[in-house]
Amino acid sequence: MTIDTCVGSLKLERPGIVASGIMDETGASIARMLSSGAGAAVTKSIGLQPNPGHRNPTFTEVKGGFVNAMGLPNPGIDLFKEEMGAAIAGGKVVGSIYGATASEFVTLAGKMEEYGATAVELNLSCPHAKGYGAEIGVDAALVKKIVSAVKSSVSIPVWAKLTPNTHMLKEVALAVQDAGGDAIVAINTLKAMVISPEFGKPFLSNKFGGLSGPAVRSVGVRAVYDIRAAVDVPIVGVGGISDWRDAAQYIMAGASAFQIGSAIATKGVKVFDSINKDLEDFMRDFGYSTIKDMVGVAHE
Ligand SMILES: Cc1cc2nc3c(=O)[nH]c(=O)nc-3n(C[C@H](O)[C@H](O)[C@H](O)COP(=O)(O)O)c2cc1C
Repeated sequence: MTIDTCVGSLKLERPGIVASGIMDETGASIARMLSSGAGAAVTKSIGLQPNPGHRNPTFTEVKGGFVNAMGLPNPGIDLFKEEMGAAIAGGKVVGSIYGATASEFVTLAGKMEEYGATAVELNLSCPHAKGYGAEIGVDAALVKKIVSAVKSSVSIPVWAKLTPNTHMLKEVALAVQDAGGDAIVAINTLKAMVISPEFGKPFLSNKFGGLSGPAVRSVGVRAVYDIRAAVDVPIVGVGGISDWRDAAQYIMAGASAFQIGSAIATKGVKVFDSINKDLEDFMRDFGYSTIKDMVGVAHE
């Protein structure tokens, strides 16, 4: 019995991956997470230029999760080179990138490959960055153009991270498949808002943010199930995973691996080791010898 898994051609010793944006801004923090039971880590999304992100407040807790509008703060791809050097010393690192055009994604992906990324994750799904992210990820033709352009410019696997904030999820997933994408990552946060009654105003400076944590899990599981039914591309599930039951749901919906974001903030990095152990116990008790045996069983 083993919990190693493959996302397409990429083999992972463990199925849990650090999601983009949570404790992964520096090379040292990524390396630390990789030594705590994660099979890989995704970097914070990086753009061409340094970006300070949105003004505070950018983050708040709600029942069942968090709403954030960080605004993709990052040092820009050139300065990120040094962090990548420190990060890849710890294990497999997936470089997350965001851009406004296909050619920006191509430039960023090339640099991530040069810096030693194991794969590149295209953030086509941030719900609170104007001109980027979800504004691109709901347009199937544009998604196809970007994924195709990046695919023909790098030789590392290309993952497309999708938004659930659309009724066109199937079409967008098909666009990734047509473009030759190596995996689909689902889901990013759900577009959300918190209003402060005392001030009579939205709480976040950006007004809108993205909901993450347990509250989004059932939406994520449904999205992965729908994607699996529509395409034959490996899937990485993410959204509200904090224990083995959550992870197993995503795998049974069709994911070959999973990512964890918010639960790292609430449970700490030990969340990976505890899920690995509990998932092994479940697999032993229920007669699954590999993760692959469990992938998509809810469709049968
Ligand atoms: C504070 C914060 C920052 C995030 N930053 C990014 C980011 O830079 N790029 C990205 O693709 N997703 C980002 N996300 C989304 C997560 O990677 C993940 O898709 C989402 O939070 C759902 O997973 P979770 O419920 O395990 O947190 C961020 C989420 C949070 C909470």
